[in-house]
Amino acid sequence: MYKVAVLTVSDKGSQGKREDLSGKKIIEIIEKNGYKLEKYDIVADEKELIKEKLIEYSNDNIELILTTGGTGFSKRDVTPEATLEVSEKLCLGISEAIRNYSMTITKRAMLSRAVSVIRKNSLIINMPGSPKAVEESLEYIIDTLDHALKILQGDASECARK
Ligand code: MTE
Repeated sequence: MYKVAVLTVSDKGSQGKREDLSGKKIIEIIEKNGYKLEKYDIVADEKELIKEKLIEYSNDNIELILTTGGTGFSKRDVTPEATLEVSEKLCLGISEAIRNYSMTITKRAMLSRAVSVIRKNSLIINMPGSPKAVEESLEYIIDTLDHALKILQGDASECARK
């Protein structure tokens, strides 16, 4: 069972001024799909705070790290930049897939600047900040993540199918 860390990035959420419905939605979906929630934090939209958490989770060998929030165009949105600064490898296809699918629901999906990367043994995926967007994004990719994590952990070496 792969371990998951959920990081909600929100100024209001970190001050207790807004209930974290997006983080809760992620937790609901990953648990429904057989993943184990290992860590869950809420931080303000501050690059260094986000990086600190991403580094902590990957140093703790958490296989999947899902962030929500801070991917848009507002001045305080820095989640993709923090993620890129801890990145060792880019996984562009995952974020492209999320945006592609999401564009069939709303053209505003093009406004998500989310990225996906690998650091050490962890796959880090940014998702937008609303529960609706989280549900649409995560439900779309979740069945492919198992294969991604197996390859990343060295549990599967090839993609051949019978
Ligand atoms: N993706 C999906 N699937 N559904 C959505 O409703 N909203 C978009 C986009 N991605 C949306 C979506 C909007 S309106 C914005 S501004 C961006 O995500 C960035 O969101 P964030 O700033 O909350 O991270």
